[in-house]
Amino acid sequence: HMKGAIFDLDGVIVDTAKYHFLAWRELAAQLGFEFTEQDNERLKGVSRMESLRILLEVGGLELPEEEQQKLAESKNAKYVEYISKLEQSELLPGVREYLTGLREQGVKIALGSASKNAAFILERLGIAGLFDAVVDGTKVSKAKPDPEVFLTACRELGLAPQECIVFEDAAAGVAAAKAAGTGIVGIGRPEVLGEADQVVAGIFELLADSQ
Ligand code: G6P
Ligand code: MG
Repeated sequence: HMKGAIFDLDGVIVDTAKYHFLAWRELAAQLGFEFTEQDNERLKGVSRMESLRILLEVGGLELPEEEQQKLAESKNAKYVEYISKLEQSELLPGVREYLTGLREQGVKIALGSASKNAAFILERLGIAGLFDAVVDGTKVSKAKPDPEVFLTACRELGLAPQECIVFEDAAAGVAAAKAAGTGIVGIGRPEVLGEADQVVAGIFELLADSQ
């Protein structure tokens, strides 16, 4: 019986991956190399600085720490420009209905994301009020697959991990939830998310079960 539901942000609630991609690609172009959508797959669920490290590896560049900080800031400025225009219609199908339904059943809801822009994105999407706790990149330091983000979310909800279910689209996130000891619903393809208890294509598939 689920008492708490913890949602990853990107790929579960909203497709911000495309904006991360556009911003990283612009940065790569400035640095003089190409960054493809396939390269971008490696950045999903990965923190900002680790993403930059991978991007620089793709471009075959080695830069001093100070320069890396500046590049990460510049990428984030581009990204923030994109998400400032996020529309409520970009909420992935079924998300608002599913979260509202859970609340009606008394299930507590948390966000568990690596993003430092998470609170801003929830506001833009008009769903901030549906969350009892928001655990994001401003609160935790260890990236998924470390369980810190989900353990913190359980604690903020006042629940044990065994009472919570994590909804995740990235393999690193599924591994983090496993390590935390929560239940796991994988969002996406079973080939990538095989460790989850259940895999669905999107939150919309869960709507029928919850009514
Ligand atoms: C999520 C996304 C990653 C992103 C990370 C940090 O995990 O899947 O692609 O790099 O958040 O996001 P931020 O908004 O703090 O740069
Ligand atoms: Mg994700």
